[in-house]
Amino acid sequence: LFNQIDLEKRNAALAATEFIHNGMTIGLGSGTTVYWMIEILGNLIKNGLEITGVPTSRKTEEWARKFAIPLISLAKVDEIHLTIDGANEVDGNLNLIKGGGGSLVREKIVGHFSHENIIIINQAKIHPELGSFPLPVEVVPFGWELTSKYIQRLGGRVVLRKKHHQIFVTDNGNYILDCQFGSLKNPGALHHELKLLPGVVETGLFVDLTDKLIIGKNDSVEIMENIIK
Ligand code: 5RP
Repeated sequence: LFNQIDLEKRNAALAATEFIHNGMTIGLGSGTTVYWMIEILGNLIKNGLEITGVPTSRKTEEWARKFAIPLISLAKVDEIHLTIDGANEVDGNLNLIKGGGGSLVREKIVGHFSHENIIIINQAKIHPELGSFPLPVEVVPFGWELTSKYIQRLGGRVVLRKKHHQIFVTDNGNYILDCQFGSLKNPGALHHELKLLPGVVETGLFVDLTDKLIIGKNDSVEIMENIIK
């Protein structure tokens, strides 16, 4: 039924749900790995688990409704106990590149507000240094060409994201620039440089956010804890 990658993603998702308990408010990340988590969570809820979810994208909201997960908007939430999200790339310090699906802004807002963040991935996403995956940067549409030039001056090769030959528009009405910087020695410094550029809303660098990384394998998982954070 599953291919190897889906199996790894699902195993990671299943392991993450063991950290969910009654009464929790859970940040629901975005992407195909999170899809498995939402499906499993739907089953747990059917069997009596009581939690509330905060979605990080329209797609996640749609999936959560499909599996009858009670939802609450961020505006009405007092605290988020735990957020479970995917990533496109993870380095040895558990820093992340996210935004492959274009949901980085809401993911970062929800993750930042959470007491704890668990990241679920398949094995191929772990690399000693970030940078194989082009870094998604969300920018406002106004003057995006100029913002792109600023980013190129910082050393990035920049491509405006398109989908079906149309400019890709985020849930927030913005554009995504996919930026290739090569191997990232200092992701935190790059994030700060990019954030200072006019027109940049947010970057896909998630530095010092991960508490636990769950790497899905064929028939097991590996859990890495961030002991520095
Ligand atoms: C979306 C994200 C996702 O977490 C990331 O793209 C991983 O997706 P998938 O689980 O489908 O590989 O950051 O903005």
